[in-house]
Amino acid sequence: MAFATRQFVRAASSSSAAAAATAAAKKLIVKHVTVIGGGLMGAGIAQVAAASGHTVVLVDQSDEILKKSTKGIEESLKRVTKKKFADKPEAGADFIEKTLKNLTTSTDAVSVVHSTDLVIEAIVENQEIKNELFKRLDKFAPEHTIFTSNTSSLQITQLANSTTRQDRFGGLHFFNPVPVMKLVEV
Ligand code: NAI
Repeated sequence: MAFATRQFVRAASSSSAAAAATAAAKKLIVKHVTVIGGGLMGAGIAQVAAASGHTVVLVDQSDEILKKSTKGIEESLKRVTKKKFADKPEAGADFIEKTLKNLTTSTDAVSVVHSTDLVIEAIVENQEIKNELFKRLDKFAPEHTIFTSNTSSLQITQLANSTTRQDRFGGLHFFNPVPVMKLVEV
């Protein structure tokens, strides 16, 4: 899987801001991904993003939780590798090493989003808590950064309205177990 997207920006006026926005409407290749929430879904999302060559930071509330997330990812990677590289153990070991190299963890979402292209939120399913998180991150993420939520039931518009980047906000809904399920709703 590759996270690549095209930003379409409405150049409604001839102001320099609109011109800059139009210039930014080139193909944006996502390299750095921040996944927030290292639970069942977030850990899986971080794993597939790292396995597909992205630089990934997985964020959660404590180092203890993140240790558990990382252990889960390592175990999941071993299972995937056993199937995918059944006849090539060396290639499998290389795949695991490269994937884990792409993945780091943090408890400080604000400092991580300073240099990210894509935020994938997978925290607790609670509108207020998600809104509060997006509102805070909106102040620190670069202008080009796209925010997404893995929400199951909340309205993306309601979440987007807590930010100033409604045109760079979307739903990215993965299915459980993420490393196995190929479908993702965009
Ligand atoms: P989970 O409970 O396994 O994980 C949530 C994680 O978010 C926890 O590790 C928690 O510590 C962390 N968290 C909570 N508030 C945080 C904050 N402010 N900052 C950083 N981390 C925070 O939940 P799960 O199942 O992974 O679900 C996450 C999201 O994905 C929810 O919105 C859920 O509706 C959605 N989803 C869940 C699916 C499932 O099958 N479980 C399927 C598709 C979507």
